[in-house]
Amino acid sequence: MRAVVLREYGGPEVLHVEEVPDPVAAPGEVVVEVHAVSVNQSLDLKVRADGTNRGTVLPHVLGVDPAGVVVAVADGADGVAVGDRVAVIPHIRCGQCDFCAGGREEQCPHSRHIGVHRWGGYAEYVTAPARNLVPVPDGVSFVDAAVILRHAPTAFNLLRNLAEVQSGEWVLVMGATGGLGAAGVQVAKILGATVIAGAGADSRVEVALANGADHGVNYRSHDLTEEVLRITGGRGVQVVFENISDPVTWPKAFACLAHGGRLVTAGAHGGGKVELDVRRLYGRRLRIIGGAGASRQDVATALEAAREGLLHAVVDRVLPLDSAAEAHRLAEKGGLLGKIVLDPRARGEATE
Ligand SMILES: NC(=O)c1ccc[n+]([C@@H]2O[C@H](COP(=O)([O-])OP(=O)(O)OC[C@H]3O[C@@H](n4cnc5c(N)ncnc54)[C@H](OP(=O)(O)O)[C@@H]3O)[C@@H](O)[C@H]2O)c1
Ligand SMILES: [Zn+2]
Repeated sequence: MRAVVLREYGGPEVLHVEEVPDPVAAPGEVVVEVHAVSVNQSLDLKVRADGTNRGTVLPHVLGVDPAGVVVAVADGADGVAVGDRVAVIPHIRCGQCDFCAGGREEQCPHSRHIGVHRWGGYAEYVTAPARNLVPVPDGVSFVDAAVILRHAPTAFNLLRNLAEVQSGEWVLVMGATGGLGAAGVQVAKILGATVIAGAGADSRVEVALANGADHGVNYRSHDLTEEVLRITGGRGVQVVFENISDPVTWPKAFACLAHGGRLVTAGAHGGGKVELDVRRLYGRRLRIIGGAGASRQDVATALEAAREGLLHAVVDRVLPLDSAAEAHRLAEKGGLLGKIVLDPRARGEATE
């Protein structure tokens, strides 16, 4: 098969397409013909730059959220058949720790990751345990499924399970045009919230409004707290969907919380070290809740919402495997309006 094989860590130029043997499914596993896989900042780009700190072993194939068609089923791979349209959940849980045994697999501390710890979907075929597959509903494209799988389940976990957003509450979504942010805007709307989108440029605020946000604030050109208090009539928001952890914007977002509010986060692209006003935290009965990951249920909820037309993927462009290096350059540069998706069945190189 054709695959983008990582033989050394480095810049985007280390990504080359090679011919490698077709993968064979181990017992309990399947082979999926990949139709779409997304390009991710925190996983793909960081593993490519230096995956050693994440436990990646070379040679390696990136790609954490492949979606496509099952083409081979090994013994013990129950409940799945050749021809099934599926998306692959990347987390391989240990199945033995207290969290896994207690039905809270998304908190498993021993999770391994397809595309990080074993070969992923930047290839024509990928193998996966049968229990990691979820059906892609008819009417949902593989491109949409890959992108939705990447962000929306995490957004459901953060907003529905952890922040427990109630209908009628106000939610401030930071980085609202990012992958997770765009999903957060849509999930908050599904939960019945009124959404204020925070973004770093007027054009990005416009994109978030077009994606369903009710209000928008450019937090680079305006005082975020002042604007949110103005919009909410002085009350603030019940929930901040943060996920940036930038030392400048984090305190501003935290100060937007109304009495009893919750700030949820699963990201730290902005640095991760921020100042916390502890008096405000306890005085106003606020909660800060961290929580990466998502459960099977969150994945199923997200794909079902996509089938119902409530959730759509925000896709910047779809490129062939040969353009993997170009895709990484674009993702690294930033400013994309949605995800870049690779389609291993497409041929040719990007024309940009
Ligand atoms: N499945 C998931 O989605 C998932 C799961 C677990 C954790 N996470 C984490 O969630 C965070 C967001 O992921 P993502 O895929 O949504 O990233 P992304 O697409 O790059 O979006 C991040 C957004 O944050 C804003 N931002 C502000 N300061 C930034 C900075 N210094 N560097 C980068 N972005 C900055 C940007 O918007 P403006 O330019 O408009 O400010 C950008 O749109 C990451 O830390 C990721 O590791 C994601
Ligand atoms: Zn476990």
